[in-house]
Amino acid sequence: MKEVKVHDKVFELYISAEKIQVRIDEIGKALSEEFRGRNPLFVSILNGSFVFTADIMRACDMDCEVSFVKLSSYQGTQTTGKIKTLIGLDMNIAGREVIILEDIVDTGNTLTHFLEILDTYDPKSVTLVSLLTKPEVLKDKVKVDQIGFEIPNKFVVGYGLDYDGLARNLKDIYQLKGG
Ligand code: XMP
Ligand code: MG
Repeated sequence: MKEVKVHDKVFELYISAEKIQVRIDEIGKALSEEFRGRNPLFVSILNGSFVFTADIMRACDMDCEVSFVKLSSYQGTQTTGKIKTLIGLDMNIAGREVIILEDIVDTGNTLTHFLEILDTYDPKSVTLVSLLTKPEVLKDKVKVDQIGFEIPNKFVVGYGLDYDGLARNLKDIYQLKGG
């Protein structure tokens, strides 16, 4: 099993780059079928979603736009529970069909907070797409419309996801070894 050391922790290979790309193509096709001709706006939540966003957009065969917001709740491998908006929306989304792109929905706190903000801007519709979810933690708190992979409640890195800033550049997704 391929392993990587990031800061003080060891992670093992969990989802290969090939598997990720197969799922992304499926999600891209599904989104294109649903939204073709409606010019949806992807809203990508930085930092973690930048790799996923680039791949999802290129898997879509339709007119679409993208905008980025930056929210932050995590320090190390623990959520702080407090969500800060570090970079906000720079576009008018009133009447737009918005597709939120997240790398991972864990407790759902970040998304719940962001959905409340979005609602005040009056979008026509909001669709949630997340590469990963942790159903054990999320329960029914937020309904994610398209999920890449459901994973157990273990910290993961790679493919945009970081542990204290490192490992975003790994092509595969790795899971914390042991606990
Ligand atoms: P919540 O709990 O608010 O968390 O749904 C969502 C945000 O927290 C980050 N996050 C992780 N980052 N590995 C990471 O690298 C993980 O296992 C993990 N779980 C949550 C992520 O930025 C996400 O947007
Ligand atoms: Mg993060």
